[in-house]
Amino acid sequence: MSANGSDHPTNLQESAKRHMWLHFSRMSSYAGQDMPLIVRGEGPYVFDEKGKRYLDGLAGLFVSQIGHGRTEVAEAAARQAAELAYFPLWSYAHPRAIELAERLAGMAPGDLNRVFFTTSGSEAVESAWKMAKQYFKLTGEPTRYKVLSRDIAYHGTSMGALAITGLAAIKPPFEPMAPGGVRVPNTNFYRAPSFVADDLNAFGIWAADEIERAILREGPDSVAAVFLEPCQNSGGCFPPPPGYFQRVREICDRYGVLLVSDEVICAFGRLGYYFGSQRYGYQPDIITFAKGVTSGYAPLGGLMASDKMIEPFLQGEASFLHGVTFAGHPVSCAVAMANLDVFEKEDLLGNVRANEAAFRSTLEKLNDLPIVGNVRGDGYFYGIELVRDKATRETFSDEESERLLRGFLSHALFEAGLICRADDRGDPVIQLSPPLTCTQEHFTEIEQVLRSVLTEAWSRL
Ligand SMILES: Cc1ncc(COP(=O)(O)O)c(C=O)c1O
Repeated sequence: MSANGSDHPTNLQESAKRHMWLHFSRMSSYAGQDMPLIVRGEGPYVFDEKGKRYLDGLAGLFVSQIGHGRTEVAEAAARQAAELAYFPLWSYAHPRAIELAERLAGMAPGDLNRVFFTTSGSEAVESAWKMAKQYFKLTGEPTRYKVLSRDIAYHGTSMGALAITGLAAIKPPFEPMAPGGVRVPNTNFYRAPSFVADDLNAFGIWAADEIERAILREGPDSVAAVFLEPCQNSGGCFPPPPGYFQRVREICDRYGVLLVSDEVICAFGRLGYYFGSQRYGYQPDIITFAKGVTSGYAPLGGLMASDKMIEPFLQGEASFLHGVTFAGHPVSCAVAMANLDVFEKEDLLGNVRANEAAFRSTLEKLNDLPIVGNVRGDGYFYGIELVRDKATRETFSDEESERLLRGFLSHALFEAGLICRADDRGDPVIQLSPPLTCTQEHFTEIEQVLRSVLTEAWSRL
């Protein structure tokens, strides 16, 4: 029952404070202030309950590639719900899942021809790890179970995915972790070790070779897979140095380790290609995806596996002993098809490729601010690292970071009409990932809001 005792709450704010439990949120902070309520979306903008407009500079949560309010996608969902609302993929198939699987296989690099659907990114990552483990059990290498992933990388929150996630700070409440998660360095060149700090290529080789060293340290016959995002989100958009992925591929091949490209954010146009691995020119054994596959009009995730991965599962009594009820939901698959139709009709990949240089140069104007240390990213995916001292790259103390990011920036940016993320899971960064329909007018709006709010933040330090 609602806060006012009726079945029909009259005050959403009051009801939210009484009944909602928000993800990764300090609930105490809503005791003295309203919960942001987003009620409607249109193109790259969303609106709150008072009608105020915000530029959705994070595409919700790296999700809304085609923007909000697309009635053709909503209608596809309605048609599918009327025709076949639900049927499981446990020993059955249905037309929309088949059509989508075929379409995705046609778009993916190389022979990633098999699609295992899930409902989310965490489930996709979790499924990929389980698939890798069972694959090795079936192919006579039963001791391979460990997974390498990079410092500060986020790969999800379910217990398996959390063991792959490289953010130490979000783990203690849930320890002990599932065994087998091993960390390697990320590709934050701005924070590169001094011996490779002046040479991006050398840094890339060093970071890739750290993966080889970790495999050797752990014992090659214990390592199942390496999980890497094409461009690492958490920590503030770390693109791979040139040649990094090619070297990682060689290392994986040398030691029989699977390369999993976690493209939950980077797929579906975020980097100007359907898959981030296509942008950076490498061939994964598995791609995990979610988010942009439906642009958020319905939840869907999944993984795409190579012909080699499915091979042992095609024999005799073998089956992948894993499944989830709503994976590949018919409505979500219909939505994904309609979403991809919009991508094609409006050439959204072309839009990102044509405008990404303008997005970059507009954000780089912020380099004249004393608090902006580094602007980095690719496509429509950027991180802006904030520093206390530009010359020395000194970062903020925990107390300053708390005051700056949580105490001021997040709220001030929202108040100024820009939804983006002020994040300090690594060094403090502002994350940007707007809908792929955005053009210069939106980049300018983002830059102007950031300029005024970051200037104010600096004056408060
Ligand atoms: C790279 C990556 N992997 C996995 C996940 C987990 O996805 P979900 O939140 O859908 O479970 C995320 C979420 O942001 C992600 O960015």
